[in-house]
Amino acid sequence: MKVAIVEGDGIGKEVIPEAVAVFDYFNETYGWNFEKVPVEVGFGRWERTGVTMTDSDISLLKTCDAVLFGAVTTSSHPSYKSVLLRIRKELDFYANIRPIRPIKGIYKLLQIKDRKEEDVDIVIVRENTEGLYSGIEEIGDVRSTTLRVITKSASRRIAKHACGLAGGRKNKLTAVHKSNALKSDILFLESCRKVAEEEGVVFSDKLVDIFAYDLVMSPSKYDVVVTTNLFGDILSDLGAALLGSIGLAPSANIGDNRAFFEPVHGSAPDIAGRGIANPIAAILSLQMMFEWMGKKREAALISEAVEKAVEDGIVTPDLGGGYTTKEVGDYILSRIRLSDAASFCLEESL
Ligand code: IPM
Ligand code: MG
Repeated sequence: MKVAIVEGDGIGKEVIPEAVAVFDYFNETYGWNFEKVPVEVGFGRWERTGVTMTDSDISLLKTCDAVLFGAVTTSSHPSYKSVLLRIRKELDFYANIRPIRPIKGIYKLLQIKDRKEEDVDIVIVRENTEGLYSGIEEIGDVRSTTLRVITKSASRRIAKHACGLAGGRKNKLTAVHKSNALKSDILFLESCRKVAEEEGVVFSDKLVDIFAYDLVMSPSKYDVVVTTNLFGDILSDLGAALLGSIGLAPSANIGDNRAFFEPVHGSAPDIAGRGIANPIAAILSLQMMFEWMGKKREAALISEAVEKAVEDGIVTPDLGGGYTTKEVGDYILSRIRLSDAASFCLEESL
């Protein structure tokens, strides 16, 4: 197995080493022999060399089974091409999975009293290859356009993926769309409805504006949510607010043969270089990688260790703590080592 490690820009360079330390622990302890392939891409490279990423970087990524990705600064400069969007498209990572489930104990730590952790357990399944991110644009001085592309094949494919996830949960799927104003969404909605029917999943749909309201006011109404690219982008940041900090939100970008894991947060130039970025979203992205690989025990050890860090208040300033990125990462790794050793001893003594 080959895993590409892409730190990227800004806090990507600070949080990914913490996730890699956890990865190394398992890789070495269990002799997995996974090969790590460092890849440098992003804005920093563009500033230095004029390129963000080359065709050979894309080819290199294609030789890997999984990618652990930090964050890249995406400039709005008209000639700047987003690295992230290019990777998603060229490697066909079509399903962007963004779980919205608070870490146990986080509401207590943050003294959030107006909602309960158990009321928030949603998976946002974002179509990742088309919609308003089609890249078909005409940029002018007096008129600029972006073409919103919805295809039946991509809509069916993402709906099928979402139904698969729903099958392992409450067997409920909600399609979020704006078909009253954007006629392109009729195809998306009807494709999702049809796939859910074929897959035997209970289906409902919601207009995106009222869904945004519900997400804040009554999140317990929803379980698996499938939506188009830009809506998924916006709603997953809104959803991350229900987690207590964007620094806690992990994500997976799944393709047919490989997958890409990244924290939802960006490169955060405002706090970069200060050692205070929250490493939990990156560590939980590794946890999602292990789940995707079928390494359920290791994934569970990571989740428990993260919960322990929250319970013990070993957290970064975004969560009101005074610990650094490295201290939080070290603490989580130490908890993983402890429970790994403990469960090993237990197995031995049985
Ligand atoms: C995300 C990001 C990206 C997106 C940006 C950086 C292009 O916001 O992964 O959510 O819009 O998809
Ligand atoms: Mg986003």
